[in-house]
Formats: sequence, structure tokens, C-alpha cells
Amino acid sequence: MDRIKKEFEEKLEKVKDFEALKQLKASYLGKKGRVTSLFKNLKNLSPDEKKEFGKKINEVKDYFEKLLDKKSKELFERAKQESIESEAIDITLPARNVNLGGLHPITKTIMEIEDIFRSMGFGVEVGPEIELDLFNFELLNIPKEHPARDMQDTFYINDNVVLRTHTSPTQIRVMKRQKPPVMFISPGRVYRRDSDITHSPMFHQVEGLLVDKDIRFSDLKGVLSEFLRLFFGDVPVRFRPSYFPFTEPSAEVDIGCIICGGKGCRVCSNTGYLEVLGCGMVHPNVLKNGGYNPDKYTGFAFGLGVERFAMLKYGIDNIKLFFENDLRFLEQFSFAKGRSL
Ligand code: FA5
Repeated sequence: MDRIKKEFEEKLEKVKDFEALKQLKASYLGKKGRVTSLFKNLKNLSPDEKKEFGKKINEVKDYFEKLLDKKSKELFERAKQESIESEAIDITLPARNVNLGGLHPITKTIMEIEDIFRSMGFGVEVGPEIELDLFNFELLNIPKEHPARDMQDTFYINDNVVLRTHTSPTQIRVMKRQKPPVMFISPGRVYRRDSDITHSPMFHQVEGLLVDKDIRFSDLKGVLSEFLRLFFGDVPVRFRPSYFPFTEPSAEVDIGCIICGGKGCRVCSNTGYLEVLGCGMVHPNVLKNGGYNPDKYTGFAFGLGVERFAMLKYGIDNIKLFFENDLRFLEQFSFAKGRSL
């Protein structure tokens, strides 16, 4: 009995998994197991011996069962521990990339322009992209057959309706529905038959109009200089005489070339300056067409190309990149890459 016990204990010691445990149990306590076969010997013994020996076998059997049970629990605990360790999460690993969407650079640029003008007290208005010839041209002092129509090659829908070529018709629309003073900007899409690395058939402009008593050219200069300083930082700004049929006098505004820092390069055609917007004092005919008395009111207007602003701010050398939806380009502006405005 003692030998069987010792042997069993040694074998149990070596058991490493449930399969081996099962086999050990079967070989001692199973139908043909060593302990079970001891019971078979009982029949040859006297009744007293039977009683004593039977009791001992039962004790051994209970003892083995206890040991087997204990071992089973140990194996179970070990397996649990191993699985916890192998499935553990390494919190020092870098997190999985989360692809957040981002705003299109043109949208961001418009939002930044709006923020600056709002901070100066300008409101924001919108006008339709399909526009009457009347608002796009005639009431802006550009009658039919006027040579100035050639400045903007137009998509006509019919004789009287066009895809607006600029945001300036919003000037007329707002003046017609609102008494002076007015002070607003108006961003939106415009269309021209135009296409090269700095011109696109669809692009964005932001119009601006301020009409009140005693508005002078110095007001225009102050507002636009401050706007350009806030948008581009401290760059030189110059006002150059120009011509628009709806403003008199008219000017174009240049800023010191951001690409070469004013030294002269291919982008600024070696002039050191880049044109960024058109502006002027609202023509008396336009005030009249909007229903304002030009003897009482004066004002200034301006129009800027949003793509031009975005190209200069972000150093982009081809306007087509804005409209190709190439993710490699757009992702550089997404919030996820930390390039928010
Ligand atoms: C105008 O459209 C005038 N309405 C601006 C204005 C408003 C002047 C109020 C005075 C008072 P212009 O045609 O120059 O002006 O266009 C303004 C800007 O739009 C240009 O400086 C340029 O940056 C941009 N632009 C013009 N054509 C295109 C084009 N095809 N693609 C991209 N940007 C363009």
C-alpha cells in the first residue's frame, strides 16, 4: 500500500497537463486501475481481514482523489495565469491611427478670412451662383457690348442668365434690400472660361462692401492693410492704380512676394510683389443702381481670389491641386496631422 502511495505521489509530481492527469487517474482509480484491482483481492481474505483491508483501500482511494483534485485545481490556476499573461495588453505600444477628416484648405482659408472681417464688424452675405446678366454686369456699370466684358470670359446659360463671373453682383443684391450703412463680405464660387496653373474655370472669391457717409479711400487702405497684416503677417503692401468699371478710383493690391521674400523670383516675375486683390471706391452709378444716393453716401468695395490667398499662405504652386481630391495633398491640411489653422 505504501509503495503504491509513493509511486502515485511521484507520478503525480510529474503531471504537467490535464491529459496526463486523466491518464494517471485512470491507471489507479479506473476500472482496471491499480487501486480498483486491490478490491478484487478482498474475496480471498477472512471477514476481519476484509474489513480492515477494505478500509485501508478506501482511505488510499480517498487520499488519491484528494491529491488528484488538488492537482486539477493547480493546473487550472496555472492555465488561467498563462492565458492572462499571453493576452495582456501592452499599454506602451503606439495607438492605432485614427483617420480624422479635415477641412478643405479653401474652406479653411474662407473661414479665416471671415473671422478677420467679422472681428472688424463686417457681416457675411451670400448670393446665387446662377446670376442675372443684369446683376453680374449691367447694374455694375458694364452694359452689353462694353469692352470690359472681355475682362471676364463668361459662361452664358442664356442671353440674360450667366454663371456669375465674380462675387460683385452681391453688392447690388444687398444694397437693393438694405438701407445704408452696409458693411459685409460675401464669399462664394465663381466661374470663368479660364484654365492654367493659376486659373481655374471654377474658383472662389470674397467680395467686400462698406457704404456709409464720409467713407474715403483712406478707410479702404486702412481696412485692407490691416486685413492683409492679420492674414499674411508683416509683409509689405502696396496699392497700385487699376481699372474696374464698378469702382472709381480703382486699385489693385500687391503684397511683398512670400516665396522669395521680395528679392524677385519666377512666381512674382522678378518684381518682388504679387497681386492679391482688386478694390476701389464704389462708382456713383453703382450706388444709384443699388438705390443709394451717391451725393449722400460713399463706399469702398474689394474682391479677392481665395485660391490665390491659399496658394500664397501654404506655398502651393498649382491651383489644380485644390480640385483633384488627392488625399496625399488634402491630408496635409487635416486636423489629424496638426495643421489646423
Ligand atoms: C474681379 O473679379 C472684381 N470683381 C474684383 C473687385 C471687386 C474689384 C470689387 C473692385 C471692387 P478680377 O477679375 O481681378 O476682379 O478677379 C479678382 C481675383 O480673382 C484675382 O485677383 C485673382 O486672384 C482671382 N481670379 C481671377 N480669375 C481667376 C481664375 N480663373 N482662377 C482663380 N482665381 C482667379
